[in-house]
This record gives sequence, C-alpha cells and structure tokens, in this order.
Amino acid sequence: MGANETTAEWYTRFAANEAHGRSAVYESWAHGVAGDPEVIAAIEQLPPQRRQPALLFAVTRLLGAPVGDYAGWRAFTLAHWSDVRREAFVRLTQTNEPLRCAALMPVLARIDGPIALLEVGASAGLCLYPDRYSYTYDGGEPVHPADGPSAVMLDCATNGVVPAPSRLPDIVWRAGTDLAPLDVNNDDDALWLETLIWPEQHDRLARLRAAVEIARADPPLLVAGDVTDALAGLAAQAPPDATLVVISSGVLVYVARPQRELFATAVGALDARWLSLEAAGLFSGIAAGIERATGITPPGLAGRFALALDGEPLAFVAPHGDRIDWFAPPLPGE
Ligand SMILES: C[S@@+](CC[C@H](N)C(=O)[O-])C[C@H]1O[C@@H](n2cnc3c(N)ncnc32)[C@H](O)[C@@H]1O
Repeated sequence: MGANETTAEWYTRFAANEAHGRSAVYESWAHGVAGDPEVIAAIEQLPPQRRQPALLFAVTRLLGAPVGDYAGWRAFTLAHWSDVRREAFVRLTQTNEPLRCAALMPVLARIDGPIALLEVGASAGLCLYPDRYSYTYDGGEPVHPADGPSAVMLDCATNGVVPAPSRLPDIVWRAGTDLAPLDVNNDDDALWLETLIWPEQHDRLARLRAAVEIARADPPLLVAGDVTDALAGLAAQAPPDATLVVISSGVLVYVARPQRELFATAVGALDARWLSLEAAGLFSGIAAGIERATGITPPGLAGRFALALDGEPLAFVAPHGDRIDWFAPPLPGE
C-alpha cells in the first residue's frame, strides 16, 4: 500500500499494474473490490500488510471461493468472512518460483565450486535445486543436470553479454531459512504454494508441481527464522571446503529497512558470496551502481528487479526470472 493510498486506490492500482495481462480473474476481482464499500470495510478490519490484494485473493481461493466473476467471489467472501479473516492473519505471501533459478544460474555457474547454497526467505526451498533443473537461454542448446534432462525446464530470454552457462554447478550442500518454512511433503503447505499461483497461470502451476516432486525426493534443510537471525548458525553448518553462496530472491522487500541493512552487514561478515534477485531500489549501494552503469536514477527503478553479486548490480531481471538484461561488464572468464 503506497503512502496516503486508500484501499480502493490500492486495488485499482493492483488491477491496472499487476493483474492486467496476467490474470483476468484477479483484475476483475480487484476492480470489483475497488468499487465495493462493503467489501472494503471488511478488508479494512485487517492490518495494512494483510490487505494485499494477491494475499487476500489467494486466501479466499484456499477456502473455496469460486474462480469466476466478481459477484460469485464477493458472495463467498462476505459469507465466509470470519474464515477469510482468520487465514489472512496467518498466511504469508510465500510464492516459490523455481524459474528465478534461470536468472541466478549464469552467475552461480561462474562461481568456483563446489558450492554450498544457503537461501534466506526460501519458502519451500524450490530455488535450492538449481542443479536439478534444465535450462535454455534464448531457446538455445539446453543445459541439463549431470544425470540428464530434468522434468523442470526453465526458459529465459536475455539481452546483453549474459554468460549463459555451459554446465551446471556442483552443489554439495543446500539449506534455507524462512519466517515460516513450507514443507513440500505437507499437503496443506503444498496446496498453499499452488494457491499462490494466479488462476490462469497454468505453466507456472505445472512447473511448481514438477519442482515440488524434485524437492520431495530430497527435502531441503529449512529452519525457521528471520533473514538475519538464522543466517550465521546455518552458515556455520556448511562444509568448509565448499564456496558458501547466500541467495536472496524476492524476500528483502518484506523486511523492514533497518533489518535489511543488518542482513547486508551480516552476509558481508560471512566468508560467502551473496547473490541477490531483489527489487532494484532496495539498497542504496545497488541503486548507485545501477545509476553508474545505466544512468537510471532511483525513481526509474520502481517495479524493476536487479541481479547483484556481493552488492554489485549486474543486470535487470524479470521478477520471476524469465528475462535478463545484462548491463555490467562481462564476468571474469569470458
Ligand atoms: C515471495 S517469497 C520468495 C520465495 C523464494 N525466495 C523464491 O524466490 O521463490 C518470500 C519468502 O520470504 C519469507 N520472508 C518474509 N520475510 C522474511 C523475514 N524477515 N525473514 C525470513 N523470511 C522472510 C516469506 O515467508 C516467503 O516465504
């Protein structure tokens, strides 16, 4: 919710900027809410961070709201408001998108291995298996895991000198932290992961299900904790002869600025690389690096995501990882 923005304005902005072109159902629900004082009054019983359109819509779908026109959704939501309210208080936006590995991989594959991978804000940990997925960049020759093609194929479009990998890194240890880790072997958690995918996004749902199967065969070590609290303890468990790589993707926007700065300091104190795929304007150092490389100043970074290594920005990336626009000099080794 933007400063001074009403709930109706928030839902209208969500409809126009986020749902339009991605989900006609969510677009129509958001427009419907924006013009519906009774539903808005119900939503405003929730604390602001619990009023997020995508979170609320997912909660209602989890409870069985019909995925159709606004009238049906409205009737269900008001009739089940006490359940909606209860779930909206306990659920978090935990969308786990394995496609983000396609944006991380060109850099990950350039880091000297073997690699110990530690993800903060890992959700169910599906981004902890980059070596178990197959990749194509610009529709070129696929790159597969060492044991052959994966059921998860990740396609990524590129622009600039993206160092597309010729083979996948050797990942010898993987672990993650999350405020509320999801368990791929728990049916309720798996259903929540699926419900976080927007109604018409059938490709994403198929990819999620295939990635969940991969994770189920070898579940990740996930510990509950804030990005910073759990970091050092978990890092200490990584094998000392591997290169520790901490990844953060789509998580730090949920962390308040002081804690975010603490996290950056904590990760900098580790003997580790930090690979991030985050909103481009979150850190002043990354924003300054982008401005030096591209001339784009912070107001122009709204809605953009950046790939960065150790706080040095390398590329703009699509939020879900399906596009990389490289602006940094080539990585060493090219
Ligand atoms: C949008 S999901 C991204 C998941 C995963 N990184 C990915 O890219 O698919 C954000 C995750 O961060 C977690 N999270 C939010 N705030 C956090 C915090 N302060 N500390 C740890 N995890 C947090 C949420 O629970 C959620 O699972």
